Amino acid sequence: MVIRLVLLIGVIALTWASECLAESASCLRCHDVCHGALTAQQHHEVSLQTMGCVDCHRGNPTTQRRELAHYRLIDAGHSWYRFPESDAVKRGQHLVDLLACRRCHVLAGKGNSLAAELDRLYHQSLPVEVVASIRVPAFFMPDFSLQQSDVDAVVNVIFAAGFMPQVSGLQPPQVVHFENDVDEENLFEKHCGRCHRVLTAQQGGLGTGDIAPNLSGLLSQFYPKTFKDNQPWDVQGLKKWIKNPRAIRPLTRMLPVVLREQEAIKLIDETWPLKVKEPLQ
Ligand code: HEC
Ligand code: HEC
Ligand code: HEC
Ligand code: HEC
Repeated sequence: MVIRLVLLIGVIALTWASECLAESASCLRCHDVCHGALTAQQHHEVSLQTMGCVDCHRGNPTTQRRELAHYRLIDAGHSWYRFPESDAVKRGQHLVDLLACRRCHVLAGKGNSLAAELDRLYHQSLPVEVVASIRVPAFFMPDFSLQQSDVDAVVNVIFAAGFMPQVSGLQPPQVVHFENDVDEENLFEKHCGRCHRVLTAQQGGLGTGDIAPNLSGLLSQFYPKTFKDNQPWDVQGLKKWIKNPRAIRPLTRMLPVVLREQEAIKLIDETWPLKVKEPLQ
């Protein structure tokens, strides 16, 4: 390990004086990174031997006009995605797990496809657009009210995922939610929907409530393990909960919902059907 490190440093030192790559050509007319006018950040030093500016920042290196050169630019704050060990990426990963984005989204090849696959965004979107979708979420996405630096960290994780080669062959998400009128016949709408929302594979988004957790992906491995003693939710546990939440969580604000056994089974089956309980990978 030490020997490899020493070799690596040697190689970098030897090549350091060499020219920057062609992929950086016109960027360097304005940004004198190679020759140190830019504060020589460590990441630039290490990476520029093998990477052009556009490998991290995108942009167009064949023009000297700034607006064109900055086409689809990834700005400094969102360029950490190429450094898996950076603070931004690590914090972003922690947040993505904590907030359980994968109960709805596929990210880095893992998660439920109840909403847009986030791995596509690196290729499709600008950083500002991804930031905006998190800050001002769609109707069925929870509002996480994150501070800007946390949003930026999460965006770095989303971009890092889009860059992973094994991710590109995924199927597009089958289901996009629709904001239907309230369907009185639907058991979730009828019994849970005024407090909760949920995204389902077959029926799109259900419910209008904001006062209780969004239950998307509840029976999948990507939902937070909030059942009891850090355990995941399952059908039996959910049936018990509906009947008497306080038997499971003594101080909970949710009151029992009176349902016949058959209704409870049908509600659970329609809302969290077995085949989408399986994760993609
Ligand atoms: C004509 C001069 C010019 C060219 C060519 C140019 N830039 Fe810039 N760039 C600037 C200036 C000036 C700024 C600071 C103001 C701004 O953000 O527009 C900047 C800012 C940046 C930033 C920081 C943006 C931020 O907000 O974090 C990045 C990253 C960057 N450029 C990358 C590139 C890359 C990559 C290329 C080549 C594909 C390139 N630039 C080509 C002039 C240029
Ligand atoms: C391996 C990825 C990577 C490559 C390659 C790379 N950058 Fe950066 N760049 C970053 C990161 C990460 C930051 C944020 C650094 C920070 O905030 O300290 C950044 C910051 C910047 C900034 C704004 C910060 C400053 O110091 O002004 C500019 C401008 C910039 N890069 C230009 C370039 C140019 C020009 C090239 C090509 C010569 C290049 N970068 C190559 C990852 C990269
Ligand atoms: C309860 C489900 C749910 C959760 C949890 C969730 N989202 Fe979303 N998200 C959505 C929905 C619905 C949309 C709207 C687009 C769609 O229908 O696919 C969306 C859209 C997005 C978009 C824009 C996608 C695009 O195609 O432009 C981003 C980015 C995003 N979410 C990031 C996140 C992140 C990051 C987290 C975790 C911090 C998260 N989401 C958690 C449901 C969710
Ligand atoms: C009158 C409002 C209301 C109704 C109706 C309601 N809930 Fe709840 N539910 C809540 C509240 C409030 C919480 C949060 C309780 C807490 O934090 O302990 C909750 C929590 C939950 C949780 C735990 C989620 C978690 O991650 O902690 C589940 C599961 C759940 N409800 C399922 C249902 C189902 C299924 C129905 C319909 C059969 C339903 N709820 C009907 C208000 C409601």
